[in-house]
Amino acid sequence: MEGGGQQPRPPGQTPGEHLQLLLHRSREAKNCAYCPYSRFPVGAALLTAGGEIFSGCNVENACYSLGVCAERTAIQKAISEGHTSFRAMAIASDIGDFITPCGACRQVMREFGTDWDIYLTKADGTYIVKRLEELLPLSFGPEDLKKM
Ligand code: THU
Repeated sequence: MEGGGQQPRPPGQTPGEHLQLLLHRSREAKNCAYCPYSRFPVGAALLTAGGEIFSGCNVENACYSLGVCAERTAIQKAISEGHTSFRAMAIASDIGDFITPCGACRQVMREFGTDWDIYLTKADGTYIVKRLEELLPLSFGPEDLKKM
């Protein structure tokens, strides 16, 4: 199944009731982070087009390179439950600055469209919102494979 399929929307259009819950769920997910090596807990919450929320945390491993970020955990949970169209993701950490997703996570997000909102939060709960297109400009995605 293909991702995306959304109409272009301006950023920050996640409905208020969804947004508060999404932010809350990202903080809650952070509490489950398995990060004994980095001691850097991260939580993510992903809002589907249908209004469901899937959350995830980072899951590290003694074989360090096998660790998975919170964002990808949430996406894999949603995909494996049959959801491929997303409206927004909130990301939470304990740092005093806005948490930003790593490059690998941006690319995995991009697989499922470029037109969604990423809420980057600080530990105090304040946030900024970016469109995925802003976080990963000039990206490569499934559509590009059809250009050959
Ligand atoms: N991490 C995330 O889960 N998401 C981010 O946005 C940044 C980093 C994780 C990966 C690793 O478990 C720990 O934070 C330190 O890099």
